[in-house]
Amino acid sequence: MAGRDKITVVGAGNVGATTAHIAAQRQLGDIVLLDIVGGLAEGKALDMAEAGPVQLYDVDIFGTTEWEKTAGSDIVIITSGLPRRPGMGRDDLLAKNVQIVKDVSENIARYCPDSIVIVVCNPLDAMVYAAARVTGFAKNRIMGMAGALDAARFSHFIAAELGVSVEDVKAVLMGGHGDDMVPLPRFTSVSGIPLPELLDEDAVARLIERTRKGGIEIVNLLGYSAYYAPAAGVVKMAEAILRDKKSVVSCCAYCQSEYDVGGCFVGVPAVLGAKGVEKIIELDLDDSEKGEFRKSLEHVKELMTKVDKLI
Ligand code: NAI
Ligand code: 2OP
Repeated sequence: MAGRDKITVVGAGNVGATTAHIAAQRQLGDIVLLDIVGGLAEGKALDMAEAGPVQLYDVDIFGTTEWEKTAGSDIVIITSGLPRRPGMGRDDLLAKNVQIVKDVSENIARYCPDSIVIVVCNPLDAMVYAAARVTGFAKNRIMGMAGALDAARFSHFIAAELGVSVEDVKAVLMGGHGDDMVPLPRFTSVSGIPLPELLDEDAVARLIERTRKGGIEIVNLLGYSAYYAPAAGVVKMAEAILRDKKSVVSCCAYCQSEYDVGGCFVGVPAVLGAKGVEKIIELDLDDSEKGEFRKSLEHVKELMTKVDKLI
């Protein structure tokens, strides 16, 4: 595997396997897919490897239950965790998933001490905090994927509403990955045109509401949670890091003085490059946006307190 980047995806379920497949299609590096269930990661990785000659990706894809095989990974993506079912909120997953993240993070610290970690499992912001606490990694090397997904959902709804290409829509979003996330229409644009120039307040409010409930909309349709768009979001982040792209992505990152957060992982626009989170971008929020962000932040901090009691 020498010479190519190494990506470990923990959890070979819906999000993990889809992440591994998209990463292979984009030839991001060699991939280790790891799951606790014997045969699952091995079978899915073999199936993906067998698609390589057709799809013409030339990377190694390997499935395992053994952490030793992840040694030296450049990036570790944590998708291992229970997904929600109809009637469940993301916070209902905290007690079970924090134990999974604890176990996984101990292994990351042991086998992949130089890696950059992207957390996906829910409740997202709290699980990023748990992974940071257990690994002890520098804060720029731990982050969470949610904003990329929520912004993609917002962008999709905007493009459909306006009948324009999704390529032209650039959405910005902050806050925790919950119903109180903060889509920011003033900072969202269509080919540089601010969204409020193109849609009236009622239409914007309707699309924001649909974005906030985007996760449960899929859960209610499928009976389990989304994975194509989440996997696309996490690969976008991994690609920005591995290719040192300096991409501006809404993601869950550690903020201290930024936005007066005071030491917490929460969704903000950030520059992602080879060092991980290289910079937090501070927007000049108005009072209403600040108020919504504060409310979302308080919720994230409550979940962090619960994590502290469990690990
Ligand atoms: P899934 O149930 O399809 O897959 C989870 C996998 O993790 C299973 O294969 C399971 O065997 C494995 N696993 C459990 N404990 C493990 C351990 N200790 N070590 C290794 N593997 C372990 O679930 P899905 O749909 O892939 O979702 C995964 C997580 O991601 C859930 O918590 C879900 O809520 C979250 N999620 C977060 C999103 C976000 O925007 N941040 C978007 C979509 C899902
Ligand atoms: C979502 O928003 C389940 O958090 C996940 O689809």
